[in-house]
Amino acid sequence: MRLLIKNARLLDARGERGVADVFIVEGRVTFSPTQVDQVVEGKGRYLLPGFLDLHAHLREPGEESKEDLSTGLLAAARGGYTDVVSMPNTVPPVDTPEAVAALRKRASALGLARLHPAAALTEGQEGRRITEAARLQAAGAVLLTDDGRTNEDAGLLALGLIQAGAFELPVAVHAEDASLRRDGVMNQGRVSEALGLPGNPSEAEAARIARDLEVLRYALRRGPARLHIQHLSTHRGLELLREAKRVGLPVTAEATPHHLTLTEEALRSLDPIYKVAPPLRTEEDREALIQGLLEGTIDAIATDHAPHTLAEKERDLLRAPFGIPNLEVAFPLLYTELHVKRGFPLKRLVELFTDGPRKVLGLPPIHLEEGAEASLTLIDPSPRPVEPSSFASKAKFSPWAGWVLEGWPVLTLVEGRAVYRLE
Ligand code: DOR
Repeated sequence: MRLLIKNARLLDARGERGVADVFIVEGRVTFSPTQVDQVVEGKGRYLLPGFLDLHAHLREPGEESKEDLSTGLLAAARGGYTDVVSMPNTVPPVDTPEAVAALRKRASALGLARLHPAAALTEGQEGRRITEAARLQAAGAVLLTDDGRTNEDAGLLALGLIQAGAFELPVAVHAEDASLRRDGVMNQGRVSEALGLPGNPSEAEAARIARDLEVLRYALRRGPARLHIQHLSTHRGLELLREAKRVGLPVTAEATPHHLTLTEEALRSLDPIYKVAPPLRTEEDREALIQGLLEGTIDAIATDHAPHTLAEKERDLLRAPFGIPNLEVAFPLLYTELHVKRGFPLKRLVELFTDGPRKVLGLPPIHLEEGAEASLTLIDPSPRPVEPSSFASKAKFSPWAGWVLEGWPVLTLVEGRAVYRLE
């Protein structure tokens, strides 16, 4: 299938590359006119490199009532993602080379967004014995993490960093101190106190980031190691990271669409749709995260797409599970709320969805030039409301339902193949 995308505005992490007719031939980009089978109108639309999500819960195996690979990877394609890193907190957790290989096999048969499994850092994500980095990587795991759980044993984390580091695998951490977080269901502060609900203090995150940075220093005495901080949510955590990067520690970080657009104020509704770990924080934290994106302290936007069944999310705030589904809205949400409404540079936003996360995994950048791999996303600036009932994800609810957003993906190509097209 040969495709022409006519008159598209090319944009990648280097900035605007002008308007061009882009031909897609044998999975590659060319600007040389050739016979095509299909033409897609690109006028007034942006053509970007495909997005990579470092952090999605696709729930397979074991929790397919919440999501499975076919719905999750279609949701990703609809969100403009060509590549997705799946979290291993499934049932059972993905902690063996066989489990990693099985996931990759099932995903590649679907022909949707490409799957890059993360594997557990410890067996069963139980925090007792380290998994086998070399064999997991050979099977296709791209990072190791016990995400969903916290790494309470610092010595074990050090060992994990050293072993994964020997194979250039990053270790990603859900940085919350369990003894400070306790049973908090939302940010600890004004709102939790007004509502009388158990709070999770920002210090739970900051204390754990401080510890993990020291653990990283210790691991680095033994050999190479790379630490990735997931879903950064606090101003103080950002300050710690900024300092760590200033002195050259090999640490990277991600922020989520929800921490960048919502705050603890949303919890006044008592609606568990806003219940997420780490919790939505204060406006000051949110502003700090946006600054962190701008200055480069935060390397990537990652979704932490965390689907649950509606029945689970309709429990009361104390009993509902943590998590917000967002693969299908992440880009338009941030395009609208950050770029359109407050002038956040589009070039940097695109980098945070493409080269930023790619770099965390050690992948080369994708530039829109002759011969580039045609894993691309076409974005339409026309406004459209968020309609959860039309999500491909099984989690058909959203904190942003009804928000009118611009910048929706209308075509997602993986190696020249359309994995999503809005007709
Ligand atoms: O909100 C969250 N949901 N945070 C996590 O760490 C885990 C995730 C999930 O698996 O539902």
